[in-house]
Amino acid sequence: MLPTEMLSIDITTPGGPEVLRPRTIAVPQPGPGEILIRVAGAGVNSPDVQQRRGRYDPPPGASPILGLEVGGVVVALGEGASRYALGEQVVALCNGGGYAEFVAVPEGQVLPLPTGWGLLAGAALPETFFTIQQTLVLRAGLSAGMNVLIYGAAGGLGGAAISISRVYGARPIAIVSSPEKAAYAESLHAAATIDHRRENVLERVRELTDGRGADRIVDIVGGQNLEQNLEAVALEGVILQLATLGGGLAEINAGKIVAKRLSILGSTLRPQPREVKAAIADSLLAKVWPALNEGRLVPPRLKYFSLEEAAAAHEEMEKREHFGKIVLVTRFGESFR
Ligand SMILES: NC(=O)c1ccc[n+]([C@@H]2O[C@H](COP(=O)([O-])OP(=O)(O)OC[C@H]3O[C@@H](n4cnc5c(N)ncnc54)[C@H](OP(=O)(O)O)[C@@H]3O)[C@@H](O)[C@H]2O)c1
Repeated sequence: MLPTEMLSIDITTPGGPEVLRPRTIAVPQPGPGEILIRVAGAGVNSPDVQQRRGRYDPPPGASPILGLEVGGVVVALGEGASRYALGEQVVALCNGGGYAEFVAVPEGQVLPLPTGWGLLAGAALPETFFTIQQTLVLRAGLSAGMNVLIYGAAGGLGGAAISISRVYGARPIAIVSSPEKAAYAESLHAAATIDHRRENVLERVRELTDGRGADRIVDIVGGQNLEQNLEAVALEGVILQLATLGGGLAEINAGKIVAKRLSILGSTLRPQPREVKAAIADSLLAKVWPALNEGRLVPPRLKYFSLEEAAAAHEEMEKREHFGKIVLVTRFGESFR
């Protein structure tokens, strides 16, 4: 018998981490094609911080509760949902609502927990793996032998980019800001690291790619970094602009885009329709889940907070020194620590 009420995290008003407060609300009902998951852990992502600050509103129809990914157990099936059985351990990309003890998710956005992975490590996979699978693989055509330059490589998105590059036989080159982060990126199997505070990024990229430049660049910095990327990218390369942590405006030489026959690709995952997210899930299941199931990918470094400690988790997330992933653990999830 499921409870009727659950603990969730509410944003009292947009602002700092302190606006995140525990609140008891009704357990959601799974709609048609949805499944209800009892959440063990919810991954914390940078877009959650943006939403808390009032700078990233949920798309129409999505839960206003934070939380874009969870690991947990299937406890109820909505009408027509048939892919998963009650009691199955799963991970899911949510449209919101993950910072709670239960969440309803379209079944196409749910994937089985990889073999040998705990529910809490699994909770830290979907948001970044869906983002990188769609942009780097499905849209930018990642393939074996490519040099992939990855900014923020010790962060959530960067770690996923290293792992997925390896799955496809590409060569991930990790850009980080400290020796500690470099060691972490290497532990995820980065082929090489560049410390942007201590080394000349362009010189190192040329050295590491025999002067060709990077075939794909995963950038979350934006701003004037774009000018550097136009230098660092190889002929016919693709620059993926997934965030603009360093600012949105850039003065660039557009002639380089022409002369190098470049593509610049932007994306935001969350507002996309459920059919698109389901297609990404199918691609992950076919191509990346075998590597996870065979233990070929290293789980991210995890830092745990209880669900009630969401404010402290956000404080940690906002520290530049933070690396790996942060997971909020529910009372149910405590036994999986
Ligand atoms: N487009 C999409 O669909 C999508 C999906 C998910 C996330 N995102 C966005 O991607 C970005 C990264 O997400 P994440 O989850 O990987 O975050 P994260 O785990 O906090 O990592 C961010 C990394 O960015 C680097 N960085 C570079 N410039 C920075 C700056 N000005 N301030 C802070 N960090 C900076 C840092 O690495 P160093 O200190 O080593 O440089 C940091 O480790 C966020 O802006 C997020 O909103 C976009």
